[in-house]
Amino acid sequence: MNKKRYYVTTPIYYVNDVPHIGHTCTTLVADVLARYHRQLGEEVFFLTGTDEHGQKIAEEAQKAKLSPIEFCDKIAPRFKEAWKNLNVSFDYFVRTTDDKHKKVVLELIEKIYENGDIYKDKYEGLYCVGCEKFLTESDLVDEKCPLHPPEKTVEQSEENWFFKLSKYVPKLIELIEDEKTNYIFPKGKRAEVLAKLKAGVRDTSISRANVEWGIPIPWDKSQTIYVWIDALINYYSACQFVEGKKDFWPADLHLLGKEILWFHTVIWQAMLLSAGIEIPKKTYIHSFYIIDGQKMSKSLGNVISPKQLTDKYGVDGARYLVASSFPTENDADVGIERFTEKYNADLANNLGNLVSRVAKLAEKNGVEVKKTEKIGFYPEVKKALDVSDSPKALSFIWVEKLSKLNAKLNKEKPWTLEEDKAKPALEGYIKEILEVAFNIRPFVPETAKKIEKVFTGKVKAAEILFPKI
Ligand code: MSP
Repeated sequence: MNKKRYYVTTPIYYVNDVPHIGHTCTTLVADVLARYHRQLGEEVFFLTGTDEHGQKIAEEAQKAKLSPIEFCDKIAPRFKEAWKNLNVSFDYFVRTTDDKHKKVVLELIEKIYENGDIYKDKYEGLYCVGCEKFLTESDLVDEKCPLHPPEKTVEQSEENWFFKLSKYVPKLIELIEDEKTNYIFPKGKRAEVLAKLKAGVRDTSISRANVEWGIPIPWDKSQTIYVWIDALINYYSACQFVEGKKDFWPADLHLLGKEILWFHTVIWQAMLLSAGIEIPKKTYIHSFYIIDGQKMSKSLGNVISPKQLTDKYGVDGARYLVASSFPTENDADVGIERFTEKYNADLANNLGNLVSRVAKLAEKNGVEVKKTEKIGFYPEVKKALDVSDSPKALSFIWVEKLSKLNAKLNKEKPWTLEEDKAKPALEGYIKEILEVAFNIRPFVPETAKKIEKVFTGKVKAAEILFPKI
């Protein structure tokens, strides 16, 4: 039997970064979706990795007095370890310095070149090394990149290879405007891309003349492939070289943050159209975290790391807090104090107390759980996860299920009932808790397992799931 396939990706993070809560939210929501689709019985390919070429990485390597590849090899495991520590179930971790990736990059670039979509021209303008991006008028604030220190914006004037991006603009507009083929979510982002496409688009440079740390252009070894072009191809290359994954292309979902929407929804799609490769089905663009009202930045010292979260809240505590605050359409303001309040209210009280109270009463009354009938996802959870909205899915479970169960328990007071009445009442609670456990598996897998174990067979009082902080 052919199982349904689901292929989800995260951006590949710049290898020199230290994993923070921004990277974490994208990776974690991708994990939630991967786990959700596996639970639906689908065959899943979940890809993440690191972006390792380009000027920025070369400069950082030099500062560390290492060759670029030594530098990358040394620090690439930081991301892998961070994700393992968060119980992220990625199937493959791609690195753009892998020869197998480079081979596919070359094949794809050659194809685009043979189609006549690449030509030489002069590039004159500004480049931001922090963004690894050619800046356009609309990117500039006071002639500089607003996202990085002023010295990162540099004048460039060089001969580059250009991709005929403008040629594909009408086709992209057509695809996006048709409900059936539109691939940009949520809606607001679609409108943003369309407006920009209609305002006119220039061809884009795809090579660098003075950056050695990259993949050489096959027909002109004096230039290397621009790091973004190399990086975008990872989504496709992994399917080509990871065993048994060829049929997963086109990707079902690219998940990413708003600052890199143009690369993913325009440049990447146009490259694929040019190469005659099917385009990904969906791209979901989320917003940003802000920390206690401020932009997260090293200089402000307000960067939250995933390690900090797991140390304080445990793995599932951290997963819950990130998944429930995932910035969907708007930026989300978060902070440690508010995370702690939410942890105590939602996890220690609403979920944890409910489980321990019901388990204790069930033990006292000798409740034995018979095999339950088949449980599925709540339609509301499905609907929310189909549009990558993890906060909506969780708030449904917490508000509509857990809070109501707690209220019912407090009103009904099964501890005051005689055993013959208490038993069936408790069985009712247990059935509902098991439904909740099933639905929270993608978010807090270990906790769901513990709950399912407590309510299997003869019920015994449960360990404390989330100690109060
Ligand atoms: N290397 C490129 C991506 C290439 S993909 C072919 C890159 N890397 S990055 O390390 O800068 O990671 C960017 C991604 O990290 C964002 O798109 C988003 O997923 C995540 N975030 C970084 N900061 C964030 C916030 N403050 N809030 C939420 N997510 C953010 O760009």
